[in-house]
Amino acid sequence: MKFATKAIHSSYDCDEHNRALMPPVYQNSMFAMQEIGEQIPYRYSRLSNPTRKVLEDTVADLEHGAAGFAFASGMAGIDAVWRTFLQPGDTIVAVADIYGGAYDLLNDVYARWGINVVFADLGNPDNLDRILAEHKVKMVWLETPSNPLLKLVDIPKLAAKAKAAGALVGIDNTFATPYLQNPLEMGCDIVFHSATKYLCGHSDVLMGVVVVKTKELAKPLQNMMVNSGAVAGPMDCWLVLRGIKTLALRMKAHCENALEIAKRLETHPAVAQVFYPGLVSHEHYELAQQQMPRGVGGVVTVYLKNDTKEAANSVIRNMNMVKMAASLGGVESLVNHCYSQSHSGVPHDVKTAMGIKVGLLRFSIGVEDVDDIWQDISNALDTTLA
Ligand SMILES: Cc1ncc(COP(=O)(O)O)c(C=O)c1O
Repeated sequence: MKFATKAIHSSYDCDEHNRALMPPVYQNSMFAMQEIGEQIPYRYSRLSNPTRKVLEDTVADLEHGAAGFAFASGMAGIDAVWRTFLQPGDTIVAVADIYGGAYDLLNDVYARWGINVVFADLGNPDNLDRILAEHKVKMVWLETPSNPLLKLVDIPKLAAKAKAAGALVGIDNTFATPYLQNPLEMGCDIVFHSATKYLCGHSDVLMGVVVVKTKELAKPLQNMMVNSGAVAGPMDCWLVLRGIKTLALRMKAHCENALEIAKRLETHPAVAQVFYPGLVSHEHYELAQQQMPRGVGGVVTVYLKNDTKEAANSVIRNMNMVKMAASLGGVESLVNHCYSQSHSGVPHDVKTAMGIKVGLLRFSIGVEDVDDIWQDISNALDTTLA
């Protein structure tokens, strides 16, 4: 089956569910047993739940992995992965422009618990060689395209280097979705999604989904999930399953609209620089063409010429349709002020090193009519020109 078909039909057999055409919401914590020791497929929803199972199997299928795990938020999913595969004394190498919440988790929690955290610019894969020569690395954590500057890293090259050194490779694939990129096919061991974003697609669920490449990796992660218990609820799983049915359609529309908006932003006098890997001007345009041939996603980031909080605020206040909100990946267009929102916990000098200026705005381009999106954004940008 091709992607769009799998997204609708994978992992669900209506014969197993009273012929309900769509997966039912098993909104219950327990399943009845008839006698001591009876083997039944589901016993307690922290361990497993039929609605969650359909979702986990569907995402595992879309990511070409052995097993999937759905958590109560993206951060709960990342945390479960790191706690499963890292121990005090281990070293994790993470991309320098990692998502702000993951950066905080590594610095505020993992470093305190004795994990050696190394952030590295992996845009040049040779940088990983130097680190692997200096440290015994347990895990390499990638994120591509990254948040918010949409930098790409070369997944197959980095994964090959990490594997040769005996490290596990995990990747945050949230911005790409399995429609645009399948990292397990490129040498990664673990792929993670904040399903809160595109997998759900409608801004009404918090969830993280992890897919592992092998059954051997699945077992310890399953144990961590069951023991620590941050599982996704059945209703949320149902909503994300419903979202996934239109993932291919939505991603095509997001990519098309985002490319068009990025091109128009390049011509706007209030904009100093546009970051979108589908633009020839982007530093990783060539890599994007190879690694993400279907498209590069729905997020477009700009530096305003007037690099001030006032100018950023003026754009935000003067848009009518495009609202400011913390997240991305829904059908509606949104704007995020990363300096004070997604990366608020990151110290100023680190933000500066990451390129997160006060006049940076990250747009999550939705699937509305592209002319309406442009009108709203360009009118608001005009207000910074005075
Ligand atoms: C790239 C990326 N990874 C992880 C997360 C964390 O996911 P959640 O907010 O669902 O916990 C986010 C959330 O913004 C994100 O953008």
